[in-house]
Amino acid sequence: MASVTGLDGVVAAETELSLVDGQNGYLVYRGYEAKELALKMSFEEVAYLLWHGELPSAEAINAFKKQWVDHRAIPTELKAVLDLLPKESEMMSVLRTAISVLGTCTRQESAWPPQFEHILANTALLPTIIAYHYRRSQGLQPVEPDPQLDHVANYLYMLTGSKPQYVHVKVLTAYFILAMEHGMNASTFAGRVVLSTQSDITSALCASIGAMKGPLHGGAPSEVLQMLDEIGTKEQAEAWLREELGAGRKLMGFGHRIYKTSDPRAEALRQLMQELASEDPWFDLAVHVEKVAVELLREYKPGRNLYVNVEFYAAAVMRAIALPTSLFTPSFTLSRIVGWTAHLLEQAGCNRIFRPQSVYVGELPASLLNRP
Ligand code: ACO
Repeated sequence: MASVTGLDGVVAAETELSLVDGQNGYLVYRGYEAKELALKMSFEEVAYLLWHGELPSAEAINAFKKQWVDHRAIPTELKAVLDLLPKESEMMSVLRTAISVLGTCTRQESAWPPQFEHILANTALLPTIIAYHYRRSQGLQPVEPDPQLDHVANYLYMLTGSKPQYVHVKVLTAYFILAMEHGMNASTFAGRVVLSTQSDITSALCASIGAMKGPLHGGAPSEVLQMLDEIGTKEQAEAWLREELGAGRKLMGFGHRIYKTSDPRAEALRQLMQELASEDPWFDLAVHVEKVAVELLREYKPGRNLYVNVEFYAAAVMRAIALPTSLFTPSFTLSRIVGWTAHLLEQAGCNRIFRPQSVYVGELPASLLNRP
């Protein structure tokens, strides 16, 4: 078996978007600590920062939000396709399909370099698509976007049909901002590779969504919830975790390719959740499971430096605001699309096609072996 796997430690690009410092455990977006942004800024302001390189003035953000709101409605052709899909279709597959249809209907497929208008259209529309398919799958009428509400509040509104609580919007905004961008992760890299062939943003986004869908990347939070449900009580935590680790299974919400200490995003979300859910026994169980799991990971996987990652507390946030588990990965996606598209703009600005090499470890034909 080949021993060169996973591009571990390989630098694939220079970026001005984010610094993921895995040794010291911090995350910076264009010169600002992500956790500071998460507590103080709106989704739209941080998206503006990532796309345009600076935080917006009050005037700029108002104009930007207006432009954003104009892209929220689902085009008729796309609605017709969504209505043809089976109601029980998995949301990430629906998103991949919808982005593809949107690109075709709005002629994004021939645009090079990527147009900002298309980037905003895809970003603004994702929550509407998620809410539309979710409500359809539940046998409910769709809820039209509310132009008075910001991106995150409007998402919750379109899902439930009621104006969301301030605290829910605050905690979900913080999670979305912390999840928006994260260097050369699998889904971002997949998108940049596609765009590097001078393909269009629709194709790049479909690749990113495909990568995000996998349980080793964006699919972990719902499995965290399942794990905590199975553990059930603090008393059972150690025995349950030992059984998993003893059987060689991975604990969802732990470990990271880059962070060799606690994921700063998980730290920030834990703090925020402490304010929101300090009385909640489920959250108390989550904090306990983290503590026991980190100790046991040290015992079962010495030297691997395995700690909690963002997905563990993302699950806690989404559970606290009662998002169904089927929406965990799609919700992560509607935030990460900002990072993906910022990377696509960056890739287009310095483009060279990605073309790594592989080491051939198979047989050689005798004719070549015997060649002088
Ligand atoms: N539980 C138990 N053991 C683990 C875990 C875990 N969560 N994560 C890694 N390990 C072990 C591996 O089994 C391996 O052990 P070995 O050396 O004895 O073979 C060692 O630690 C190194 O792990 P790799 O899987 O090689 O690490 P890699 O960098 O390739 O993977 C990943 C990182 C995919 C995140 C991994 O830690 C994992 O699968 N975690 C669980 C899934 C998860 O939480 N994903 C969300 C990540 S955050 C995000 O994508 C936004």
